[in-house]
Amino acid sequence: MDKIVIEGGTPLSGQISISGAKNSALKLMVACLLTDAPFELTNMPNLRDTRFLGQLLENFGVQVNDGVGRLSLHAKNLTSTTAPYDLVRKMRASFNVLGPLLARTHKAKVSLPGGCAIGARPVDLHLSALKSMGANIELDEGYVIASAKGGLRGAEITFPFISVGATEHAMLAAVLAKGETVLNNAAREPEIVDLANCLNAMGANISGAGRSEVIIEGVEKLGGTSYAVVPDRIEAGTYALATATVGGAVRLLNVRSDHLGSLWPLIAQAGAKVTMDENSVLVERHGTPILPVDVETQAYPGFPTDLQAQFMAMMCLADGVSIIRENIFENRFMHCPELSRMGANITVSGREAIIRGVPTLKGAQVMATDLRASASLVAAGMAAEDITEVGRVYHLDRGFEQIEVKLGNCGARIKRVSE
Ligand code: UD1
Repeated sequence: MDKIVIEGGTPLSGQISISGAKNSALKLMVACLLTDAPFELTNMPNLRDTRFLGQLLENFGVQVNDGVGRLSLHAKNLTSTTAPYDLVRKMRASFNVLGPLLARTHKAKVSLPGGCAIGARPVDLHLSALKSMGANIELDEGYVIASAKGGLRGAEITFPFISVGATEHAMLAAVLAKGETVLNNAAREPEIVDLANCLNAMGANISGAGRSEVIIEGVEKLGGTSYAVVPDRIEAGTYALATATVGGAVRLLNVRSDHLGSLWPLIAQAGAKVTMDENSVLVERHGTPILPVDVETQAYPGFPTDLQAQFMAMMCLADGVSIIRENIFENRFMHCPELSRMGANITVSGREAIIRGVPTLKGAQVMATDLRASASLVAAGMAAEDITEVGRVYHLDRGFEQIEVKLGNCGARIKRVSE
């Protein structure tokens, strides 16, 4: 298994081009199931998760052609509508094939995804949205067996709380339903807007994406399209925070700075300088102390849970005490013991972590526990004295394209080692 080995203590300096968003790409890929026409994604990240979803789509008979930054998907004939456990359990986003399969073929059998390291992560909201649209849903031996005789029907759906996945899933199903669907208390993440834009380019009729009320007028048929995946705000935020943590100056290219409106003021409060122009953001910190900043995660446009661990890595080196509160997932502090192995002083109590900043972190052997947490360990390793080894790198490979190359180009002493 690969590990990342980092020799800390060198400031970062250079440019990093941000890839297409993993979380968007996964839902956009699923959209290919809604049409028998050729479908193409550009600005496509090459990640373990996207390759993996490609395999699941092939399992349904989709022709998948992978190019550099480009992915062609053609679901001309669907030869299967079953998503087996082995293919769903490795990645939760696979569950989102259920709605489109149901919408197009009126039946599907998809394994329940199960829990994951950051919490139970149920799919009750996904299922109740599909039921509201007339789907008949049975659970059998860990599988959701769904059918919709005569097709799905538009419905008014009010989510009891905000879920990105359930909002996207409902949109993916409602585009081919008969009549109008209204989603209330919908998630407002940029990935939702990206999905709506892509579906509209295929001929769907969605309005209000990015607001709490999304209206979808069902259409008979969708066509193909070529669509560019939105830049990854979480990757951009990760490198911005890494620069603020380690010190130096990094310009982020191909970034949508407006998608990180909650992050920039917090980075500035922590003592780094942020300068934006149309397509790029320059983050700098040159020898000034990191200042403590409290933060809590919220649904968009609030501070993203997917940047919580990276923010914490920065706070570990702050000149004072900060409190980080995790409101989205119930168990998203697994990076704390790993950061503590590097000398961080963190106390977790329920949904809050109290971080008492220390002057230096020390390199250690640590283990990546989940995708975003892994990135926090890499940033901590670059800021620490001596050598840090981050194990279980497959977590990083799920969602960060060539992280060691991108950081290495900015002067980080970082390499991948196969064991
Ligand atoms: C997506 C992102 C993930 C991000 C999260 C929150 C992808 C592939 N993943 O995950 O990176 O951290 O949004 O921004 O896009 N919940 C239920 N029942 C449901 C659905 C969700 O209880 O049916 C709960 C979850 O357990 C969680 C909360 O709702 O506590 C929010 O989850 P959700 O927004 O659905 O996250 P995902 O779509 O899974």
